[in-house]
Amino acid sequence: MRVVVLTGAGVSAESGVPTFRDADGLWEGHRVEDVATPEAYDAAPDVVHRFYDARREALAAVEPNPAHHGLARLEQHLGDALTVVTQNVDDLHERAGSQRVLHMHGELRSALCRACRRRVRWLEGLGHQPPCPGCGLRALRPDVVWFGEVPYEMDRIVELLRSADLFVAIGTSGVVYPAAAFVQLAARAGARTLELNLVSSGVSPDFDEARRGPAGELVPTWVDEVVSAT
Ligand code: APR
Repeated sequence: MRVVVLTGAGVSAESGVPTFRDADGLWEGHRVEDVATPEAYDAAPDVVHRFYDARREALAAVEPNPAHHGLARLEQHLGDALTVVTQNVDDLHERAGSQRVLHMHGELRSALCRACRRRVRWLEGLGHQPPCPGCGLRALRPDVVWFGEVPYEMDRIVELLRSADLFVAIGTSGVVYPAAAFVQLAARAGARTLELNLVSSGVSPDFDEARRGPAGELVPTWVDEVVSAT
């Protein structure tokens, strides 16, 4: 059974990583146009760096929760028949032990050189404009996909969705494309579809089944079901 899991900010919420669109979410306190577009970066790189440097620093203080651990356990069971596609830029899936993770929106702990396009693992701040370890130019930006930019790994993700038997979306509001369209793509290709989310999302009606509750409870239960059925 080939499984594609799509995760969003809700999967990391119980770890203490803020989501975007809930009360107290990141987009409540910041305007998207000020911190998450190429135009914002061109206009005021220091503001954008402050936003991402703070988020990167906050990662040091959080831990994976039972949802991340559940997905890592599922990978141990299914092997390469499971792929986690995440919109999250944290590294909590990896820290829980998942290895097959595609970060379609990039990663906080990575920097992208605007000069040589190299992607480098980066744990420190970027606000002081350090030189790129590859080309030496002071052109490093956060390696996150901003609004108006093309997500990473799309060819591979579409291929995986086309051959999936089961597609599961966890903790995502389903308002940001292209991820919001994955359920339709997978369903058209014949996959069963399941949504695990705290509340009903904009795309809930597109799923064969939707379960409501915190990811830290829903995911381990669902993983138990898959493990005992396969
Ligand atoms: N368990 C399960 N779901 C939860 C939990 C939880 N503990 N807490 C919140 N949620 C749900 C919310 O109800 C909401 O539907 O997670 C979803 C989070 O939605 P968003 O904040 O919109 O996050 P996400 O869907 O990941 O956003 C997509 O938008 O701004 C961009 O690039 C950013 O990757 C992000 C993208």
